[in-house]
Amino acid sequence: MDLQKLLNEMTVDEKLAQMTQLVPQIITDKGEGAVTGPMRNFGITRKVTSKIGTLLGGTGAEQLKFLQDFHMDEDPHKIPLLFMADIIHGYRTLYPVPLGLGASFDTELAEQCCAMAAKEAVAGGLHVTFAPMVDLVRDARWGRCMETTGEDPYLNSKMSAAMVRGFQGENLEKDKIAACVKHFAAYGACDGGRDYDAVELGDRTLREFYMPAYKAAVDEGVELVMTSFNTLNGVPSSANKYLVDDILRKEWGFDGIVISDFNAFYEMISHGIAANEKECAKKALDATSDIEMMSTCYVKFGKQLLEEGEITEKQLDDAVMRILKLKEKLGLFDDPYRGASVEEEKRLHLCKEHRDLARVAAEKSAVLLKNDGVLPLDENVKKIAVIGPAADHGMIGGWFCCGTVAEAVSALDGIKGIAKNADVKLAFGSTFDPNEKPEAVADRISEAKQLAAECDAVVLCIGEEMDMSGESHTRARISISDAQAELVKEVCSVNKNTVTVIYCGRPLALEKINDISPATVIFWHPGTEGGNALANLLFGKVNFQGKLPMTFPYEGQSPYFYNHLPTGRPNGNGGYCLRYLDTPYEPVYPFGYGMSYTTFEISSPTLSSNEMTEDGEITVSVNVKNTGNAHGIETVQLYINDVTASVSRPVKEMKGYQKVELAPGEEKTVTFKITLDALKFHTFSGEYKAEKGKFKVFVSNRSDVKEFVEFKLI
Ligand code: BGC
Repeated sequence: MDLQKLLNEMTVDEKLAQMTQLVPQIITDKGEGAVTGPMRNFGITRKVTSKIGTLLGGTGAEQLKFLQDFHMDEDPHKIPLLFMADIIHGYRTLYPVPLGLGASFDTELAEQCCAMAAKEAVAGGLHVTFAPMVDLVRDARWGRCMETTGEDPYLNSKMSAAMVRGFQGENLEKDKIAACVKHFAAYGACDGGRDYDAVELGDRTLREFYMPAYKAAVDEGVELVMTSFNTLNGVPSSANKYLVDDILRKEWGFDGIVISDFNAFYEMISHGIAANEKECAKKALDATSDIEMMSTCYVKFGKQLLEEGEITEKQLDDAVMRILKLKEKLGLFDDPYRGASVEEEKRLHLCKEHRDLARVAAEKSAVLLKNDGVLPLDENVKKIAVIGPAADHGMIGGWFCCGTVAEAVSALDGIKGIAKNADVKLAFGSTFDPNEKPEAVADRISEAKQLAAECDAVVLCIGEEMDMSGESHTRARISISDAQAELVKEVCSVNKNTVTVIYCGRPLALEKINDISPATVIFWHPGTEGGNALANLLFGKVNFQGKLPMTFPYEGQSPYFYNHLPTGRPNGNGGYCLRYLDTPYEPVYPFGYGMSYTTFEISSPTLSSNEMTEDGEITVSVNVKNTGNAHGIETVQLYINDVTASVSRPVKEMKGYQKVELAPGEEKTVTFKITLDALKFHTFSGEYKAEKGKFKVFVSNRSDVKEFVEFKLI
């Protein structure tokens, strides 16, 4: 397809429509001429909608083929629609929410999961996913923790690149879809953890913590970038020329499509940086935003802006060309349906291979926080109680795309599947309501307690309902509800053989139950195969290996993150130091923490030298030994601290990790290479470089390790 020729033939109105994204109901609204039906809100007519470039939110081969036909009948140049949707943790077969994938520390797994999602989505007729979301998050109150891989820039970057590879493959092969990394930039740093609120960040923090994961996606060849809702230092991202044009396009060399978030152009008015839609359009185009999602500033005012000389046709052409190029790359000009196929949907969706992968992902994402001899459960147990609001619920998690709760395996089903000869009983105990008081469910709690007293083992499934995290689901308090805490207390008082399984899309404050529950598992929102994965874990068919990708704080500590700066008055130095009057200073569980059915001993690190030159490298070695009785996988983590620099540096930064598989008694040497890159930062004078001097090196299986060795950069 000669794209330049096509572009030359397009009118300005057609170009502006190409740069607009709406939902299917608007496209198919036949209200002729007059502004009517769903189109009314947008002040547009069929003249515009028949030429639109991309659609948001349709799914399924049948629907999308219909929409493509509908559009192609009317589009003057027969430019096919691009279909985009949020395929966040699977299309029909769901794997754990991204925070859970983060806990796996397994990038190969993340890549495989996204590849599976891509395959299913292609059959469903989709071309682009609004994923990966790689916003670094430090505040557990933010509802969108569930969509991220956590608080660490190194882990986030590795995951980001892996997910892009999984979705896009080498070069958007037939079973791949284009990825759209989001939300650029620093959306997760909103004030108070309140979704959509403002972000104020210094350049150093922005670049060193928040930017690396977006950059990793760009380096991996991601096709699209979505700008975020928030203002960053006063400027909303879709109008942020510095962010989009200067950093993303010019500095990083991104030449793909920039799309806004939902209605974000129009929201410039509420942000107070544009008086009307015309100004929104001008600011967005000046910031090189290509596609306007779910508002209509471009189509309504683009032409006028051009006539008044406020924008140039070249600006429009650049944007449209980027959109056409992606359509061409996906092969849509040759086959506008691409892989959409009802037969393929039937063959692939929820097929055994996909369910197996979703199960393995859920197993690898689970984090064992505590185990006072309860786990693994005995398969020959006679009577087992599965209790709690999540017990008989397919906890697939938010952003479930085409997945359904009905197709998911609950904890109850999973346990019944393994403990075949046991009498498996169910009790609800409480609801998910975070404000529920024990008195309100006193009868249910006492019923659950009675059942627990009669059973040999109890699996208590509590935490957050699926829709308690996600977009716009900020929580001011992240504690386990009083009713759920009472349930745990009462059940554990009569049955010490109890494991508490916590379903959540964010870190929860666990202090109310941490000492009471003899065994505790974080299971996130595990997806379609959750129940089977849980049963395999609890009965010891597979071992735990997940590690926390975010700090689990006490109530009131958020935002709390391991890689913070040091202070002149560290905790532990008496009164006038870093502390809380009413809460411990350390979190309940640190970043990187997670147990398994075996134990690992990690030796003190040794360095190949205590001095490193700028072009040299240092090898850090530790001996890792499986000192327990089970086969297991340990995630060995490398942290570095720059002791003295021109600016204060984080107390620790993860610079590498490795997963090591060991049989009981087996040991292996694990080595990491430290090169200059791992030591670089934005110095006081604004350069990105490493400064000479002392560095501490920590190697452990959790971030709160104290022991270190030192070397000098000379
Ligand atoms: C969300 C995005 C999402 C978009 C389209 C917005 O509300 O912030 O993450 O991709 O909707 O569904």
